[in-house]
Amino acid sequence: VTGVAPSLSAGVVGSFAYFTVKDRLPTILTKVIDTIHRNKNKFFEEYGEKGIEAEKQTISLLSKLRNELQTDKPVLALTDGLQDTQSWNQYLQRQQILQGDQESVSWFKSPWLYVECYMYRKIQEALWLNPPISDYDVFNEGKTQSFFESQKAVMALCTYVEGVKKCIKELSRNQIFEHFIKLLLVSLWGNKCDLSISAGQDNSQKTSPLDSLNSLQPFILVDDSNMVWSTLLSAQRPGQSGKATPVRVDMVLDNAGFELVTDLVLADFLVSSGLANEIHFHGKSFPWFVSDVTANDFQWTIRQTLAANHMWMSKSGVKWQGYLKEGVWCYHDHPFWTQPHEFSDMAADAPDLYATLQGADLVLFKGDLNYRKLTGDRDWDHTVGFDTALRGFAPAPLCSLRTLKANVQVGLQPGQAEKLASQDPDWMTCGKYAVIQFYTPESE
Ligand code: F6P
Ligand code: MG
Repeated sequence: VTGVAPSLSAGVVGSFAYFTVKDRLPTILTKVIDTIHRNKNKFFEEYGEKGIEAEKQTISLLSKLRNELQTDKPVLALTDGLQDTQSWNQYLQRQQILQGDQESVSWFKSPWLYVECYMYRKIQEALWLNPPISDYDVFNEGKTQSFFESQKAVMALCTYVEGVKKCIKELSRNQIFEHFIKLLLVSLWGNKCDLSISAGQDNSQKTSPLDSLNSLQPFILVDDSNMVWSTLLSAQRPGQSGKATPVRVDMVLDNAGFELVTDLVLADFLVSSGLANEIHFHGKSFPWFVSDVTANDFQWTIRQTLAANHMWMSKSGVKWQGYLKEGVWCYHDHPFWTQPHEFSDMAADAPDLYATLQGADLVLFKGDLNYRKLTGDRDWDHTVGFDTALRGFAPAPLCSLRTLKANVQVGLQPGQAEKLASQDPDWMTCGKYAVIQFYTPESE
């Protein structure tokens, strides 16, 4: 199709996609294998010989997967017969058609986004084919560890937000605006803390994020935070009955650990300031890209926060639990979020989810992978508009809060990318830069 940039792929030798498929993905698989092996005794205690057998079988499937990846074997259809198996296999056929019949869909030749997502789904297949340990989250240890290592930063953040909430009624609109921007920035920079970019290495937040916001400002390449603010304000209009209609913000979550806390704190502020009345969180239905939030991580994080031995932290946790009980907050995990589709496919391939998002006044997309899916993970010219790269994905006003960790970035000023590249050749993948990039559908 004319006008659509090609997908990023490990086929481009020397690209970040190439490096990822060649080195980073095998490293992640090796860690997964080690984790399962290290937990052998636990599986034995829980399931006896069956647990040991499952551990062996799973490891053998994962070693086979790693070998297929490293030798660029064809990507195979899934065999586990779960709810999403068919749509994964249909997607594989679609890739095959796009590529033509001469070459099979394979790790180094096919789109990076697809093969990387497929790897996480294959890890799940290996577990699901071995029932006693099917529900074991191979990334859990890393996620909980990164949460605990960020304790000081979490405490600082909860102390700050509880302080703001205490006097929220007396704050002027301007003061509310300033706190809003701060917490939006904290949530943005929280995205630095994912465990996928470091292949599972420590990546926690050690210092209070609030102190570094000013010094980080020059690293924000696109800052549409004003438009996010005005979207929230204009959503406050009275409905037909003259009564204010509830304002709803959806957050498409990314990573557990510190980043999730920053998202919960922002959501708490949106509700307690009256900027929003309902928050819908969207997470993953199985472990994904090492550190992404699952339902279990979401619950666990709130329980840990409310049980913390720190007054402001536990106060925050109690409040969050309350929001969930009252239905002010809710959590969903639609299977589409753990599929390889770019978001421009959503209206056709997951119309129910698209319709759900249409009910929001604002959708916040956290993190790098969501940005890759928003823009189709394509080699766009950097000056192409965000609206062009979205290719019709427009369920509601939306904003990406992302630190750059992949070779895709649109919506820059002419010359901006060239200047960055001359200062910092790795600007797109080093995680040092960020965007707050907003889009609103025409009719809004
Ligand atoms: O390549 C970097 C990477 O591991 C990508 O696979 C992925 O886009 C990203 O990091 C994960 O980052 P995030 O958690 O911000 O989506
Ligand atoms: Mg992630």
